[in-house]
Amino acid sequence: MTQDENKDLVTLVDGASGQRFELPLIPGTVGPKVIDIRSLYGLTGYFTYDPGYTSTGSCESKITYIDGDNGILLHRGYPIDQLAEHSDYLEVCYLLLRGELPDAKQKAKFEGDIRNHTMVHEQINSFYRGFRRDAHPMAVMCGVVGALSAFYHDSLDIADPHQRMVASHRMIAKMPTIAAWAYKYSRGEPFIYPRNSLSFAENFLHMMFATPCEEYKVNPVLARAMERILILHADHEQNASTSTVRMAGSSGANPFACIAAGIASLWGPAHGGANEAVLQMLTQIGSKERIPEFIARAKDKNDPFRLMGFGHRVYKNYDPRAKVMQRTCHEVLDELGVRDEPLLELAMELERIALEDPYFVDKKLYPNVDFYSGIIFKAMGIPVSMFTVLFAVARTVGWVAQWNEMIGDPHQKIGRPRQLYTGAAHRDFVPLHARG
Ligand code: SDX
Repeated sequence: MTQDENKDLVTLVDGASGQRFELPLIPGTVGPKVIDIRSLYGLTGYFTYDPGYTSTGSCESKITYIDGDNGILLHRGYPIDQLAEHSDYLEVCYLLLRGELPDAKQKAKFEGDIRNHTMVHEQINSFYRGFRRDAHPMAVMCGVVGALSAFYHDSLDIADPHQRMVASHRMIAKMPTIAAWAYKYSRGEPFIYPRNSLSFAENFLHMMFATPCEEYKVNPVLARAMERILILHADHEQNASTSTVRMAGSSGANPFACIAAGIASLWGPAHGGANEAVLQMLTQIGSKERIPEFIARAKDKNDPFRLMGFGHRVYKNYDPRAKVMQRTCHEVLDELGVRDEPLLELAMELERIALEDPYFVDKKLYPNVDFYSGIIFKAMGIPVSMFTVLFAVARTVGWVAQWNEMIGDPHQKIGRPRQLYTGAAHRDFVPLHARG
């Protein structure tokens, strides 16, 4: 394939027939150009083959840009470290949904819109009682969020921009309530209702840890840390769960069903489930002396063990979110007086050793967003089983922003990939009596 810079196209030569096919190159604002292969099958009779979409763009988007080689993450052009430092989660939600940072009036209106949707229909309360108390909270999230479409019939018409906006606000607003109630249900404690006087992160922590017996004051340092963690997890381009939401939405499924599909995909240990897996891994390693044993296992092709919280499909440099997360980890542990948390010391030593090991250096495996988040959550008193639930709470805005962008894309079609078929060629049915 040759590229003709003058005409912004590439030429594909069929080695068998010698035929030449010209395919357009489309430039983005930044980042790699894309080869527009929409006409490829019609021109050549060939499909492309790219399991896991390592080199394939599934859509055009204006929301998030990642430069994996340089460890850059931009949301609508704003660097993640600046947003984490200076913004708050609802302001980032507005930015992701509408494309610009809000002015004071717009911000106040948006906060009010979200605040008015933080409660859930009271009958949803009884949904929890169908689950065992020891159900994994991600199973509860999949079930309860998927059921929301049975309640909010006035925001299911995806062709109506107003209904899409209401559904988006409902999802962002209700996820913390649904998540906190999953935690309370697992502990046999009464549900705590949202409070309009609290910020997004304060409300979540209050619903998680308050009880009806006494006033619960949210620690402002922990609330600020939670806001930052929510921002760091808000959106991340076309990751597995966002692609799942887009694929589900491409058939016209209602927004609540699409978000439930995203939650299911996020649950996997290779994706959002990694924060839970990191804590389990650190606990399994147990001491600095055992780190070499686990580093060796991570490098052993015959051992399925991988260093959880390390590596990334796109980042071949340090995940910029992991740097902010590490800083936040120190802040939270200092505030809580657990600076000498053994798991943090173990994680830092593991990171130091891994980043000096040629295997990880050569394969460009760095800590990702999940490496430190679990240590912070544990210090906050959040159980390991709730770690991915927090990721889902934060990522909901990314899912709904990408879903809205897809629905509004004039080029949008139902997602329907093709395949390389290597199964049996045609053969006639063999009746049972004639089978060997
Ligand atoms: C998230 O996509 C996103 O944006 C996701 C996310 C988001 O915000 O939405 O960033 C959130 O999911 C972060 C990733 C969390 N997952 C983990 O921490 C699980 C551990 N990491 C790996 O499973 C892996 O790194 C992935 C899944 C994250 C990425 O896998 P890829 O891109 O498919 O890379 P790969 O599996 O092909 O690995 C390339 C090589 C392989 O070796 P070779 O076959 O080339 O010899 O690196 C090795 C892998 O064996 N490798 C690891 C490793 N990760 C990759 N070896 C040891 N430990 C690891 N963690």
